[in-house]
Amino acid sequence: MSALTQLHEEIARCTRCELAKHRTNVVPGEGAENAEIMFIGEAPGWHEDQQGRPFVGPAGQFLDQLLASIGLRREQVFIANVIKGRPPGNRDPLPQEILACRPWLDRQIEIIRPKMIVTLGRYSMAMFFPGKSISKAHGTFHKQDGIIYYAMYHPAAALHQQSLRKTIEEDMLKIPSLLAKAKSMTEVESPAQQLRMFES
Ligand code: URA
Repeated sequence: MSALTQLHEEIARCTRCELAKHRTNVVPGEGAENAEIMFIGEAPGWHEDQQGRPFVGPAGQFLDQLLASIGLRREQVFIANVIKGRPPGNRDPLPQEILACRPWLDRQIEIIRPKMIVTLGRYSMAMFFPGKSISKAHGTFHKQDGIIYYAMYHPAAALHQQSLRKTIEEDMLKIPSLLAKAKSMTEVESPAQQLRMFES
């Protein structure tokens, strides 16, 4: 059994927060164990809770379209959430739930070792872009410990607010060149050189 499958079995037994009492299925995440890009959303909704799979409702359909726009299928990336169990009534995750679930996400990142992490929405962004607002941070990135962190609006935002659709589509289109730079960067020695590559 792979390390990720083993981890997901552990997550399935998780009772670290009250959400364990309400969920139909745990939604650990899915995709390639050696994915170069990891997308991190907020929390499972109704469809995800029913199926035990991330982003399979309307927001997921849009995410699939966004992935297709850069030539990717969901099996080629890894899709996870900050929270692995559905908050009742799709309410916002509570700080203690985010804290309780964080070690699972950290272990997924350790196993997958992605080159790039794309945060979808403000809860996911808050983990890796502390203190930033999504309206300013979307479409920007920073690099830490060999990973490029890139912030995007949540795909569901486009379903509620049509004007954000184009912004989300444009932000998605920046991913391939960022990833290409992230990959070539491993051969570059100095941080100053790395910075220049991103600025070019
Ligand atoms: N929204 C999320 O943030 N995650 C899902 O898995 C589905 C909808």
